[in-house]
Amino acid sequence: MQTIRDLSQLRDAAAAARKAGRLALVPTMGALHDGHLALVREARRHADAVAVSIFVNPTQFGPNEDLDAYPRQEARDLELIEAAGAAIAWLPEVATMYPPGFATSVRVGGPSEGLCGGTRPGHFDGVATVVTKLFNQVLPDVALFGEKDYQQLAVIRRLVADLDLRVEIVGVPTVREDDGLARSSRNAYLSRDERAIAAALPRVLTQTAARIVAGDAVAAALAAGSAELVDAGFASVDYLELRDAETLAPLPDLVRPARLLVAARLGTTRLIDNIAVG
Ligand code: PAF
Repeated sequence: MQTIRDLSQLRDAAAAARKAGRLALVPTMGALHDGHLALVREARRHADAVAVSIFVNPTQFGPNEDLDAYPRQEARDLELIEAAGAAIAWLPEVATMYPPGFATSVRVGGPSEGLCGGTRPGHFDGVATVVTKLFNQVLPDVALFGEKDYQQLAVIRRLVADLDLRVEIVGVPTVREDDGLARSSRNAYLSRDERAIAAALPRVLTQTAARIVAGDAVAAALAAGSAELVDAGFASVDYLELRDAETLAPLPDLVRPARLLVAARLGTTRLIDNIAVG
């Protein structure tokens, strides 16, 4: 595996890989877990070579968010992606991505509105900007993103369609712990007690989806689900919403395909999850 921090070297390595076959990109912010490694393994099924980017992107963190505290474990991450079969590790510095004078932002409307876009203003502008840059740097044939960040996946699909980017987007199902909790770098922040409470998130999602499919009124099912999360020990629920699975438009009634999405706070940690409905 080549570990690259210089943009011209990255372009050369990516060009050589594209000449030899199909090249996949798995963008990450490091602190890798099984969910990311599932993306790398899936990428190998779609391409001859896999590039993994590791970049904790400052522009997608709000002023009061956890940029400085975000877990960083570069040496371990490199071992993990090499073992999973990556050919290129792309580790740009912040100054490489955002040199002095940087003044461009990519803003996607539609699916970035509401949900995490409501509680984290500017977050998806940061994601869309850095992902556009990563696509232009690596020029991958295919890029893979986890369904765990379902709104992000919808935003990136919209971005690629709207800007005619020549890259295939593949969404990969969420990898879960034995009790159903979605794998996330932020799970590392949970205390032992919070970790036990966190299992309520996938459980309530599943129960709420089942109620909606059984014919309960959507608004009542969502209100009941939010109350159950608070009863289970969550400090607050940012949102629990039913949305169109593709456009992410709000759905007052069940129309398939639909997606149920949640974000809730446990202590100082904000957890998100989502499942298909029906
Ligand atoms: O999902 C992530 O880890 C990030 O949002 C991404 C796509 C790597 C962009 O920084």
